[in-house]
Amino acid sequence: MFKVENVKKRFGGVQAIKGSNFEVPENKITALIGPNGAGKTTLFNIITGFIKPDEGDVYFRGQRITGKHPFEIANMGVSRTFQQVRLFKYLTIFDHLRMADDNQDTKLFKNLFARQKVDKEAYEKVLEQYGIERGLDALASELSYGQRKLLDLAMAQRKQHKILMLDEPVAGVNAVIQERIENYLLDLKQQGETILLIDHDMKFVRRLADYVIALDAGVVLVDGEPEKVLTDKRVLEAYLGE
Ligand SMILES: Nc1ncnc2c1ncn2[C@@H]1O[C@H](COP(=O)(O)OP(=O)(O)O)[C@@H](O)[C@H]1O
Ligand SMILES: [Mg+2]
Repeated sequence: MFKVENVKKRFGGVQAIKGSNFEVPENKITALIGPNGAGKTTLFNIITGFIKPDEGDVYFRGQRITGKHPFEIANMGVSRTFQQVRLFKYLTIFDHLRMADDNQDTKLFKNLFARQKVDKEAYEKVLEQYGIERGLDALASELSYGQRKLLDLAMAQRKQHKILMLDEPVAGVNAVIQERIENYLLDLKQQGETILLIDHDMKFVRRLADYVIALDAGVVLVDGEPEKVLTDKRVLEAYLGE
């Protein structure tokens, strides 16, 4: 799905990504792991066009996408969530789902003013499916942290996409919501979705991932099957050194 080739990125004096090379397979769940500051989010931002790499290239299904705008990459079928959930405080759950149903940013306003055409029942079902225990008219600012994570995930999934990229989808949520998200992602995997996710939680990664890429300063330490990667001495050392 993706190929990341010799990608480097420096922020001032910090060489955040020292040279990253990896591939993300299709129809699998791939986990990017690594200690805090390992460059995971930066790589997500580079892949999705939010940050330009200093060197190297990113390919999406064989097509070079380095330097493309985030909306262009999104429109190619790359749907993502953010580590810090980004919602519009003064828009409702309904508005957010409506926006997600059309992946072209330019249609944002059209979406907001075309609300009468939407089947509210379908959205009620989305809330049920994701376990969002609020009404469609609730404002994003009224939602708990866990509910915002669920809404963000629902939006990412509803956008037309070929890959879902999730930055720490269960970080900071309670055990109930974590299990809900895990089961939901397992379902998506059964349906053949391609997912690239970042996570810290080893149990979560073991349960979900088919393929694991362990990073340190953006450099791949080890990759492969979860058991192999999660028991590798270099990976354990990188975590212990945190
Ligand atoms: N916009 C930025 N400006 C300066 N430094 C940054 C910026 N983004 C990330 N970094 C630095 O790059 C390194 C990698 O960060 P990040 O990609 O967020 O790591 P991770 O997601 O693996 O925890 C860290 O040292 C971080 O402080
Ligand atoms: Mg991060």
